[in-house]
Amino acid sequence: MLRGANIVLGVSGGIAAYKSAYLTRLLVKAGANVSVAMTEAAQEFIGRATFQALSGNPVFTNLWSARQEADIGHITLADKAGLVVVAPATATTIARLATGAACDPVSCVALATTAPLLLAPSMNVNMWNNPVTQRNLSTLRSVCGAQIVEPDVGYLACNWTGKGRMAEPEQILSAIEAALSPNLLAGKKVVITAGPTREMLDPVRFLSNRSTGKMGMALATAASRSGAAVTLILGPTQLQPPPGVEVISVVSARDMGDALDKVVGRADLVFKAAAVADYAPEDFAMQKLKKGELGGEWSLKLRQTTDLLAKLKDSSAFVVGFAAETTDVVANAKSKCARKGCDAIVANDVSRKDAGFESDTNKVVIVRANGDCVDVPFGSKADVATNIIESVAGWLS
Ligand code: CTP
Repeated sequence: MLRGANIVLGVSGGIAAYKSAYLTRLLVKAGANVSVAMTEAAQEFIGRATFQALSGNPVFTNLWSARQEADIGHITLADKAGLVVVAPATATTIARLATGAACDPVSCVALATTAPLLLAPSMNVNMWNNPVTQRNLSTLRSVCGAQIVEPDVGYLACNWTGKGRMAEPEQILSAIEAALSPNLLAGKKVVITAGPTREMLDPVRFLSNRSTGKMGMALATAASRSGAAVTLILGPTQLQPPPGVEVISVVSARDMGDALDKVVGRADLVFKAAAVADYAPEDFAMQKLKKGELGGEWSLKLRQTTDLLAKLKDSSAFVVGFAAETTDVVANAKSKCARKGCDAIVANDVSRKDAGFESDTNKVVIVRANGDCVDVPFGSKADVATNIIESVAGWLS
């Protein structure tokens, strides 16, 4: 997504400037062309050579340098930017931008650009809470449409603890990707089920499966970036859900079904990425079952669960199922799609080591109810999710 994107990174004078060096690295690694502008105060914290080396581009530091203005002047940078990111955005820089005071390399570029503006504030907690700072941020949001990556709460370099620590570079990168994503699902409500379910036998034992929820999480991130309002119905997982997504945590297949019943009526699009247990124990013991009582053998009686995907047959939403297959992937997916009455099904070959359960990468084919197939290239689950969203968004009426 960031391949070839022109990003101007404005660095202003805060201790978090050191994190912006890593942000530059992440952006370059993702394929972006990064040009850095620095205020004088920023150069007290970190040298221009660091950004020059990491970005591979000259760094704009001086409005009065004839050479810099000729080569990488503020208008040149402002015009070529696809996005201007100010990180760290100090209280001073935020005030300058909110009042239109173009008096340093960063504020000059940010005010002269017509590209979207993203700010990652960093300051002392009391400066952050000061009504003047909050008013300036609200002006930038409402008047300029600036997006703000909220600072984290924690220990601050000024020895205070509170809100004001610049968001981590990975989080800023994710906000940049979101800001540059085409709004393919703007105004759409998307429900995603993800992760495994757990079917409890007693308070300490359960039956489950190998799903980690990575694919569903990646879909939630991609759908949210594409402008959708996302509800994620999430089985037990170690993963952190993406920001901005409504999460309903569930345990069993039955919980997942109940949660789905509550939200599916208002969905435009449903992705059933969860690995729902097909069978659940018929009995649940309220107290831990003791080995002494169970003896040398323990037979379980399992009962088939409701097929949540098949239940959505008459839903007005566009329903995308998932098919975990180990043989005849496309043929099995086609018959599963017809049997469960979904609009499309994403089939993965879970016998591959580099795809399906637990893997960070995936290889899928999307099979539509009309028989058309889209072969999604092998890639990270994030890239595969972006491709799935692109295809499916095109099929929504
Ligand atoms: N699914 C569901 N409810 C279930 C079982 C599965 O909603 N009780 C959904 C999954 O979320 C997925 C799809 O059905 O979207 C296919 O799941 P999969 O495990 O591949 O299929 P099964 O129904 O288990 O069929 P089979 O055992 O024949 O492979």
